Amino acid sequence: MDQREKFGSRLGFLLISAGCAIGLGNVYRFPIITGAYGGALFVLIYLAFLLILGIPVMCAELAVGRASQRSIASSFEVMERPGQKWHLMKYLGIAGNYLLMMFYTVIAGWMLIYFYQFLTGGPVMDHGADVEALGGFFGSLLGQPLLLIATTAIIVVACFLVCSFGLQKGVERITKFMMLALFALIIGLVIYSFTLDGAGAGLKFYLVPSVEPIKRGELGTIITAAMGQAFFTLSVGIGSIAIFGSYIDKKRSLLGEALTITGLDTFVAICAGLIIFPAYFTFVPGATGIDAGQAGAGFLFTTLSGIFNSMGPVVGRVIGTVFFLFMLFAALSTVIAVFENIMSFWLELTKLNRRTVALINIGLFLVLTLPAIFGCNIWSSVKDVMFGKDFIDMEDFIVSNVLLPLGSLVYVLFCTTRFGWGRKNFCDELNAGEGVKMPRWVTYYMTYALPVIIAILLGYSVVNFFR
Ligand code: ALA
Repeated sequence: MDQREKFGSRLGFLLISAGCAIGLGNVYRFPIITGAYGGALFVLIYLAFLLILGIPVMCAELAVGRASQRSIASSFEVMERPGQKWHLMKYLGIAGNYLLMMFYTVIAGWMLIYFYQFLTGGPVMDHGADVEALGGFFGSLLGQPLLLIATTAIIVVACFLVCSFGLQKGVERITKFMMLALFALIIGLVIYSFTLDGAGAGLKFYLVPSVEPIKRGELGTIITAAMGQAFFTLSVGIGSIAIFGSYIDKKRSLLGEALTITGLDTFVAICAGLIIFPAYFTFVPGATGIDAGQAGAGFLFTTLSGIFNSMGPVVGRVIGTVFFLFMLFAALSTVIAVFENIMSFWLELTKLNRRTVALINIGLFLVLTLPAIFGCNIWSSVKDVMFGKDFIDMEDFIVSNVLLPLGSLVYVLFCTTRFGWGRKNFCDELNAGEGVKMPRWVTYYMTYALPVIIAILLGYSVVNFFR
């Protein structure tokens, strides 16, 4: 443990933590649920949750990681007092990281397929803007278990390979490059989207709140969706951000770092909507935005692919390729970060080296991802017994709406109550170093209000799910 590797630079820390946060949650899940839940109203509630839930929990995770210099596998062990049980949190954290990757790597594989399709001008481009035909094409891809196993395996092997090279030589080097490329791609795509005819209508739907969803009685669902999204997008609650706290020194205070990471994450999510909605309102006749949500998971692969096809064979191919490359980078940055976390558990709990841990986990994930893959094809009837959800939806729900809020609750209680680490130690750790200090009232808020808010939202979202 004494030879714990550190990041080579602060930029590395910020980009990798942001890379962990920025992912399919921002560029895939966020626009879809924004469409489904009424556009700007959802965005507003989501931003509020980031502020009142996401940032405080991220501070708690970073503080525990930095103070313990451990991953979630042993951080509570070294910080709790004898006889305490906070260390049981490691099981929730480890389960959360595995469960997240059990479906996330499969969806990352879909991005790989579509990137390849547009890059090579493949069959996806033969269907023009015919959304039904594109849906059929997407369905035919999902109907091929071997194809999905192969693309998931490529993602898993590539990302563990990066982690096996170590923190600085593997994770930091590759993710820094990907994140900088991602920012360049996103800015290029936003500028392009702004030049489209439907930019005004798209931006209005996306940025101007409407009370229609409230009139339709959807406020409760919007709130739980926004909460799940706030936890999901920051990946807080299962220790996947804490690990990066354990790789930094005390030169900078943690609130400032959490604000920067959340700011970058939000920037990418907002930009994803700025790209998608103008294109959507330009190329889909009679678009209402809500259909973006109704198209659900298929939206990118059907409607949006149709939009790229309508841009013409050359422009559409270029924009489609760049868009899916952007999606792929976002997904890979999260997978690498979470795999680094998983790697860290194993290094702390066993005497194995990075390479062996990578090999074992590649084997594990090739099996663990099978439910998500088979749920799309040979096991699709599982929906009948799982409240109409397939494995991907179910795993996503358990992670986003149960494990992340529950784990966040544990982090917050541990940091702020005298039964845990305690508010004073927490504040000292947060405020050590230069940068923005945590105002005292926020720590009171975190002690007395935040746990109640998380508990209520957690209970509500579970009840809402079964309703
Ligand atoms: N935070 C990750 C994402 O947004 C899980 O994709």
